[in-house]
Amino acid sequence: MAFMELAKNRYSERYFDTRPVEQEKISLIIEAGRTAPTACNYQPQRIYVLQSKEALQKARSIRVSHFNAPLMMLVCYDMNTAWRNPGDRWYENYCSGEQDASIVAATMMYEAEELGVHSVWLRGFDSQEVSEVFDLPENHIPVMMFAMGYPSDTSKPSPWHFQRKPAEETVKIL
Ligand SMILES: Cc1cc2nc3c(=O)[nH]c(=O)nc-3n(C[C@H](O)[C@H](O)[C@H](O)COP(=O)(O)O)c2cc1C
Repeated sequence: MAFMELAKNRYSERYFDTRPVEQEKISLIIEAGRTAPTACNYQPQRIYVLQSKEALQKARSIRVSHFNAPLMMLVCYDMNTAWRNPGDRWYENYCSGEQDASIVAATMMYEAEELGVHSVWLRGFDSQEVSEVFDLPENHIPVMMFAMGYPSDTSKPSPWHFQRKPAEETVKIL
């Protein structure tokens, strides 16, 4: 599918079918994430694929809506690996980890969409809780989670999906 069509078709899925996502598709989604750019190519993303019953149970115990998705992913970055910019005067030793993890996640999201696997980006969680539930190493910083799967018969975009600000409001041509 042409990219603009794919981008316009995508919406946050909150009505998942129980059908599991095939392993080959999960592998392709991960492979797409590997192609994403990262600062200095340090690739600090750390991705937890939550597909076992036990992992999904843990994910569902976290206080964030998961919409009963049959597959979830947790995207973190390794704070010991991410690029730092000590020369940025706004931030102390600026860390690119969140940007790196986000562009990896976005790339995976669009590959999933291409494969017919819908998703919703989740950030309304408490990082501390996520870290504890999955017993993450201290240097793995949670950035976002995906709920993923096939759309159910009742799937529909939320009204927010149709509310896009005009480019004039968000873009300034200099
Ligand atoms: C950084 C970020 C955090 C988000 N967190 C959540 C969330 O915790 N729960 C949720 O249901 N949707 C979440 N979303 C999805 C947004 O609500 C959604 O993308 C937005 O309303 C536009 O709708 P659309 O994706 O259907 O086009 C998040 C999206 C982003 C990019």
